[in-house]
Amino acid sequence: MVDIHTHILPGMDDGAATAEISIEMLRRQAEQGVTAVVLTPHFYRDREETQQFLARRERAMARLQAAIDALPEQEREALPDLILGAEVAWRPNMKLWDDVDQLCIGSTRNLLLELPATKWTDQVLNTIYNLLNMGITPVLAHLERYSYTQRRAVLEHVEGMDVPVQISAGALQRPFVGCKLVHIMGREQNMILASDCHSRNHRPPNMCEGVARLRQKLDPQTVDEILERGNRLIIP
Ligand SMILES: [Fe+2]
Repeated sequence: MVDIHTHILPGMDDGAATAEISIEMLRRQAEQGVTAVVLTPHFYRDREETQQFLARRERAMARLQAAIDALPEQEREALPDLILGAEVAWRPNMKLWDDVDQLCIGSTRNLLLELPATKWTDQVLNTIYNLLNMGITPVLAHLERYSYTQRRAVLEHVEGMDVPVQISAGALQRPFVGCKLVHIMGREQNMILASDCHSRNHRPPNMCEGVARLRQKLDPQTVDEILERGNRLIIP
C-alpha cells in the first residue's frame, strides 16, 4: 500500500519538525502496511521559486536519509520506501511553468495539486485541462476539504473527471460527511485514499483506519481497486 500524500519530510512545512518525528511517522506507516510513502511538502509558487523549493527539499531529504542511515539495519529495512513529490498549490499561470515535471511524484508525470479554498472559477477548473494538455496528470488533493465551499454541481463535475481525486483517511471517520465520502469512493472510478499526515499525534499516519472504514462499507474488490489506484501513481 502506498500513501501518496504526506508531510513527513522534516522542517519543510507544517508537517514533521525534525527527522526524529519523521522516522516515528514512517514507523507508524510501516506498522499499518504502507510499503511506500510519497513525501509531499507544500509548495506555493507565489512565495518561493521552484528551484529554491527543490533545493530546500533536497536538503530536508538528506537530513532524513542521514537519520535513517544511523538506525540499526533491521529498523532501517522495516521502513517504507521514500519517493519525493510536492503538494503544489494552484496558481492561475500554471500552464506557463516549464519546470512543473520536477514537482511530480518521483519520476512520474503525476502532480499532487491543491486547489484553492475559495469558490472555484472556470479558470481554476481549466488548469486541470491545461495540465493534461502538458502531459501532466493532476491528482486533486483532499476533495473533502471543499465539500462546504464549492457548489454541489462543481464538486460532482470534479468527482466524475478523468483525473485521480484523493480523499483523506481521517475524513472518512467524520459524522455524516464520512459516510458520503465512502459512498463517493465506492461509486467513482478515480478515487484515491491517502493520509495527508502532518505529525505523530495531530493528523497522524492513519491509512489503516481509512482502509478499515472502507472495508466496513464497500465490497473487498472495490477497496482493493481504490488502493491499487494509489499504488499505480508512483509508477512512471
Ligand atoms: Fe497536504
